Amino acid sequence: MSKYRSIIVIALAAACALSVGCGKKESTTTGTSTTETGKKFVIGMSQCNLGEPWRVQMNADVKAAAAAHPNLEVLYKDAQNKTPVQQAQVKEFVEQGVNLIIISPKEALPLTKPVAEAMAANIPVIVLDRKVEGDKYTSFIGADNVKIGKEAGKFMVKLLGGKGSIVELKGLMTSTPGQERHNGFMEGIKGSQIKIIFDADCHWLEPDAQREMNSALSRFPQIDAVYGHNDPSAHGAYLATKQEGKGREKQIKFIGIDSLPNEGVRYVKEGILTATFQYPTGGKEAIDTALKILNGETVEKNIVLGTKVFTKENVDKGGAPL
Ligand code: FRU
Repeated sequence: MSKYRSIIVIALAAACALSVGCGKKESTTTGTSTTETGKKFVIGMSQCNLGEPWRVQMNADVKAAAAAHPNLEVLYKDAQNKTPVQQAQVKEFVEQGVNLIIISPKEALPLTKPVAEAMAANIPVIVLDRKVEGDKYTSFIGADNVKIGKEAGKFMVKLLGGKGSIVELKGLMTSTPGQERHNGFMEGIKGSQIKIIFDADCHWLEPDAQREMNSALSRFPQIDAVYGHNDPSAHGAYLATKQEGKGREKQIKFIGIDSLPNEGVRYVKEGILTATFQYPTGGKEAIDTALKILNGETVEKNIVLGTKVFTKENVDKGGAPL
């Protein structure tokens, strides 16, 4: 009888060792680098949309960084620029029991609760690029949009010799970069005689910016510059101005933000934009931070990425850090 019992005990122990972590989310893998713990982790990444090149780049940066860590599996979801879809995605990741969530939220307020609920379920959350409200997340990673806006404002003051009429084509104003790039810009032009004669929420989208710029051009005979909250907006404004057919694109200065090599930086090289301010995707930093969290290290609540400005003077030297 005792012989049978010990056989059963050994069989149960073997089955437990073979099963996935014996009920735990982590399982031990073989052959992972010695600098890591050897545990396998699943990360859920919710991207607000993949319709914009900058976000495609962010996912590519996450993928490239994750590829160096065989113990990481990243599950990607694209919310297609729909807030309810993104809310559902976060819930799905929680139900699935992923080890960590990375979210680049479309809007701040509506994603705050789903993120807080993930945290309440003991799933760490990295918020990337756009913020949520409050502090119920593990770590926020992104460049300082107030600073970028302020630098753009100071640049504009210099460019226009302290006075002029400008158009501001804003990003989605229910997202934090839109609010912060506006507030920073206002600080940057404070005390100058620069007037914003037209502004509109272009939702970060080039076609919206093009349409809004058409309205601005039809209403204002004198426009000195355009401040686009991202490069697609500044480019949309340029296209609208060119299509107006009066040659005003040669006189109006266009400034944008993002600096993707194949977008903003190229526009600067081509003389379409006077300047673009870099907004790094943070994809690599998100994976570095995720690994630290998953390995039990403490990380900073706010990880601030740097920025650069690209102009025709410095573009061939890789821009100038700010
Ligand atoms: C892409 C984008 C970028 C912008 C960022 C702000 O969706 O619009 O162009 O810099 O989001 O969150």
